[in-house]
Amino acid sequence: MINFEVISRGTSHRISAEEGKTVLEALRQKPELSPPAPCAGRGRCGRCRVILESAAAPLHEDEKDLLSSADIESGVRLACRLPAADGMVIRLEENGAAKIETRAAGGEFELDPILEKKVVHLPAGTLDDQRSTAARVEDRLGLSPGSLSQTIARSLPSLPNPEKPFTFVLESGVPTAFDIGDTSEALWAAAVDIGTTTVALYMVNLVDGKVTSSRAELNRQSPVGADFSSRLEHAR
Ligand code: FES
Repeated sequence: MINFEVISRGTSHRISAEEGKTVLEALRQKPELSPPAPCAGRGRCGRCRVILESAAAPLHEDEKDLLSSADIESGVRLACRLPAADGMVIRLEENGAAKIETRAAGGEFELDPILEKKVVHLPAGTLDDQRSTAARVEDRLGLSPGSLSQTIARSLPSLPNPEKPFTFVLESGVPTAFDIGDTSEALWAAAVDIGTTTVALYMVNLVDGKVTSSRAELNRQSPVGADFSSRLEHAR
């Protein structure tokens, strides 16, 4: 096993790799540190540029073809043609390591989610109305008798607290879950954007359409090629 250091945006990362791997192969375990590799490491695109900060290592023929003499003088190397070596220090070019931005879509749009929430207030039962809680809920939601699922019907308290309404989540009009209390101000959904380069997750409140948080990371397949055919070839 060999260990080397990668510096990205001023931060040092220690990478371990098996003997015989190239820097690109070693960095595949950390996609956020991987330089772009559109040709999937075949030495054709010249995009997997890194800067070798430690002692010089012999240049591969492909590097001589794809890098300018100014690049070579400044220590630029191709990660897919540079063997990883114990103790080496690699610096990523400023635009080399991925920087992912997630931004909520702007502009006006009409919300039309298949999920909605409805608040149901049930007054205390009376001698005149001795129906089950489920039957009274169905009545309030305008559902036909017996249409609440058994799971929901069995979970409803037999003596609901008139102070605490139920908030039902309905999918295309069918109740699928409920909360005790009024929770109608938020109905959370996760939107996942799976791209060939990045994968992003957005938390959206379906009540007002606001994106409250987001997280993204590089598609972990990107270090083995920019397109599906390169990735399929890698997997074979
Ligand atoms: S030259 Fe394309 S990934 Fe290295």
